[in-house]
Amino acid sequence: MRRMIRKRVAILISGRGSNMTALIEAAKAEDYPAEIVLVLSNRPDAAGLARARQAGVVTEVVDHTAFGSDREAFEHALDRVLQTHRVDIVCLAGFMRVLTPAFVTRWNGRMLNIHPSLLPQFKGLNTHRRALEAGVKRHGATVHLVTPELDSGPILAQDWVPVLDGDTEDTLAERVLEVEHRIYPEALRRVAEGRAPIASPDSKQAAN
Ligand code: GRF
Repeated sequence: MRRMIRKRVAILISGRGSNMTALIEAAKAEDYPAEIVLVLSNRPDAAGLARARQAGVVTEVVDHTAFGSDREAFEHALDRVLQTHRVDIVCLAGFMRVLTPAFVTRWNGRMLNIHPSLLPQFKGLNTHRRALEAGVKRHGATVHLVTPELDSGPILAQDWVPVLDGDTEDTLAERVLEVEHRIYPEALRRVAEGRAPIASPDSKQAAN
């Protein structure tokens, strides 16, 4: 069998890291075209750091509070760590810092994000609450390439779940999270393989 050269991936987190875990699990497959070489958090107390270490993944912390309001200095520190680990692709997974256009441009086409809504609906925060308030019948998640405008880059994968009578933010979030954990590894696979078809926002992906 021809030896596959895997893309080196860093996952950036700020919190519990369930999407991170889904990516780490997916990357265990022999035929997966990416390896997770680093989990990087901007918060020293992110629960995902312990989960990553348990899974045997190298972790680093670049604490944004150490840089005050100097976003550039924070991002230079991020870049240095990413370079040290020779990272090819960055996956944002619940990373709660807005990145500057300069940083985003440096990673153009090589930085992915997962967002808990059917973009372009509900960009920004509190998506599940806003979906319930808006009375939508379908809600979901989107993986997209990161561009300077928030939650607006080309869509790589998207899928939806029904919003059910009696749903709360928590029950809806839980149902959407299952979608997230499925579509993020799929989207990373396509980017790592150099084939990243842009999904139509309305398409329900085949379940295979
Ligand atoms: C997910 O809902 C993701 O879509 C959003 O932040 C949440 C992170 O959850 N960007 P986790 O840390 O991956 O569990």
